[in-house]
Amino acid sequence: MVRKPPSRKGSMADVPKDLLAQIERLEELFSVSKEKLIAISDHFVKELEKGLSKEGGSIPMNPTWCMAFPDGHEEGTFLALDMGGTNLRVCEITLTEEKGEFDIIQSKYKMPEELKTGTAEELWGYIADCLQQFIEYHHEGEDLPQLPLGFTFSYPATQEYINHGILQRWTKGFDIAGVEGQDVVPPFEAALAERGLPIKLTALINDTTGTLIASAYTDTEMKIGAIFGTGCNAAYMENCGSIPKLAHMNLNPDHPMAINCEYGAFDNEHVILPRTPYDVIIDKESPRPGQQAFEKMIAGLYLGELFRLVLLDLHQNPDVEIFQGQDMSKLQRPYCLDASFLSAIEEDPFENLSETSDLFHHKLNLSCTKPELELCRRLAELIGTRAARLSACGIAAICKKKGYTACHVGADGSVFNKYPHFKARGAQALRDIFGWGKEVKKDPIVIMAAEDGSGVGAALIAALTLKRAKEGNLAGIRDVDALLNCHKPMPN
Ligand code: BGC
Repeated sequence: MVRKPPSRKGSMADVPKDLLAQIERLEELFSVSKEKLIAISDHFVKELEKGLSKEGGSIPMNPTWCMAFPDGHEEGTFLALDMGGTNLRVCEITLTEEKGEFDIIQSKYKMPEELKTGTAEELWGYIADCLQQFIEYHHEGEDLPQLPLGFTFSYPATQEYINHGILQRWTKGFDIAGVEGQDVVPPFEAALAERGLPIKLTALINDTTGTLIASAYTDTEMKIGAIFGTGCNAAYMENCGSIPKLAHMNLNPDHPMAINCEYGAFDNEHVILPRTPYDVIIDKESPRPGQQAFEKMIAGLYLGELFRLVLLDLHQNPDVEIFQGQDMSKLQRPYCLDASFLSAIEEDPFENLSETSDLFHHKLNLSCTKPELELCRRLAELIGTRAARLSACGIAAICKKKGYTACHVGADGSVFNKYPHFKARGAQALRDIFGWGKEVKKDPIVIMAAEDGSGVGAALIAALTLKRAKEGNLAGIRDVDALLNCHKPMPN
């Protein structure tokens, strides 16, 4: 059965004319029709191809040097490090001989907010300190062998090797000077060496690639790994022969290569996405204007900010009466609302929207009338629905490009996992794009919860890299001798 995502559109009877007119304007601005979704995904396919070409395009389409799916027989103990926006997670993963099984221990560390705009030394020092704490806590007094590490660094990086990565640009609000344009591996390894840690960075990976590989470990239908979280992006397996920008390397054309699309950068040139004036402000006031056009319309980092900008704009509009005579100072603080605020509004189970009312009161010091609450509710729904529908265009584009008519997409990230109705709205958008009507009983392309990409996925990619190094298949691997010392006692 095809279930339409729910909407509260019906409950607008008592809303005054000025607010009703604004709701209609917002509906116009934020709704994306079926026809538009199709046009966006068709254009998206061309942009993915451009990204793979020698000339390049807006979408980076970064080759990752992850050149195989796991076969389920990977073995050994690996560290995995995930540098997320809010947390830093360190895992130790032991892949066992049993097909598809593993043991995991992990610790989480808070990523201090100041670090995102601090110095490079502080960043690498903090990360290395966390790794040191992990080792000391879990392996006190042990003589450890050199442990291979899969480092999930979820930012666009140019990789000539899998254990190398030049940061193209910071995304998701990070702004640390002196890192863009540089290989991030040497300063990271220097911080490890200073602390005498028995760790060798074996693979620098993206969260999407990790998600793809971890999901494919347990489900062979998985063709795409996607993140719908603070940022948005996807990875998939390409054939080397379809990557013209790698032609000079004479790789076997049939050999697979995972591509980290970095498609948050889709439509940086603003030719197709239906941007609103609020999207324009978000971009202008971000640390990297002109970058990540697609991401800024759909990713978790920006959903609360979009909502805030709309409400402020309505309040400032002389033709609209909203939050009349109230103290707006809290709402005036940029990025004071995150996506969880919108989630909570959309999840309010009560017809009188009493939870939404409490939320506005506690978080923003605003008391709302019932019509104001109705407007806020509809706005959250519009922003959340637009995010889900546009998100589906990236997935549809990869499927169209690869000719996948049926597959699984492994997805992770706070928006996918926590935002109400995101999955149902995304699934509806895929039906709209591919024209699956009622006669299609089961959606052929399904976006489903992924396995742990930045833990198990990172460990698997490190394992696959060591396996390739041992076999002498060295394309895209540097510092091979040091990698081959992994799992051996630490050299003195
Ligand atoms: C980054 C990607 C990442 C995505 C999801 C984007 O901002 O550029 O590398 O995969 O966020 O975390």
